[in-house]
Amino acid sequence: MTLDASIAFSARTTGSLPSGGSDASQRVGAAYRFYALAYAPLALLNMLTVWRAALGPLVRFYREALEGHPEPVLDVAIGDGSLTAIVRRRLVVDPVLIGLDISEEMLTRAVRRLGRERFRPVRGDARCLPFPPASFDRVCCFGGLHVIPFPEQALASMARVLRPRGTFFASVLLRPRGWWPRRLAERYVELGLLSTLFEPAALRTALQQAGLLPVREIRNGRMLLIECQKPAS
Ligand SMILES: C[S@@+](CC[C@H](N)C(=O)[O-])C[C@H]1O[C@@H](n2cnc3c(N)ncnc32)[C@H](O)[C@@H]1O
Repeated sequence: MTLDASIAFSARTTGSLPSGGSDASQRVGAAYRFYALAYAPLALLNMLTVWRAALGPLVRFYREALEGHPEPVLDVAIGDGSLTAIVRRRLVVDPVLIGLDISEEMLTRAVRRLGRERFRPVRGDARCLPFPPASFDRVCCFGGLHVIPFPEQALASMARVLRPRGTFFASVLLRPRGWWPRRLAERYVELGLLSTLFEPAALRTALQQAGLLPVREIRNGRMLLIECQKPAS
């Protein structure tokens, strides 16, 4: 399926990328073209074994980010919608979701899973989000910051589209512990499936530099669940 022109990546709506990194973005896009074929089971297996994180806390946190939100929520690096679909089934009031991803294959699957009634897919690069400043008062990025090349640029872009006092929710995989999980994670970086193996301190610094103030941090194995706020001014 080809995505509608209205939601397809276009230079007109995305503006220009920060200098450098477009090769890296293309490499990740290409890697996810293949990963999309079996993303949900492989991602779950990796999360449980390599990162020793549980699904329950991740789903609960994602649900908190969405539940009853009265305005559209921007979900950056939404992927194939498999995690979002699990969360949505648990929501009492389901907000409209603007789901952005660089991979057409992942987005196509997301449309199949989430439908179009309360889901608007947008193909684009998280590093130059195609929305005016202060467009959203809630932005999510689940499983994206360790994948997107130059995550500090993506954070700056997400902070830009967030309104003052707006909230940012994210899940981030950290550098795993132990020889084989580390080696495997490094291999995923070589293959373009991951870009950054964060340590918590480096992640906190990147959030701070983007102007996002920590509100809450939950440890889930070698995954961090993060809630931040953009200051009032
Ligand atoms: C690990 S998946 C996360 C999917 C989903 N949010 C989840 O938690 O299961 C990472 C996603 O980031 C997307 N991605 C990678 N680089 C990107 C970029 N520069 N801009 C937008 N999305 C990007 C990939 O295509 C992939 O769908």
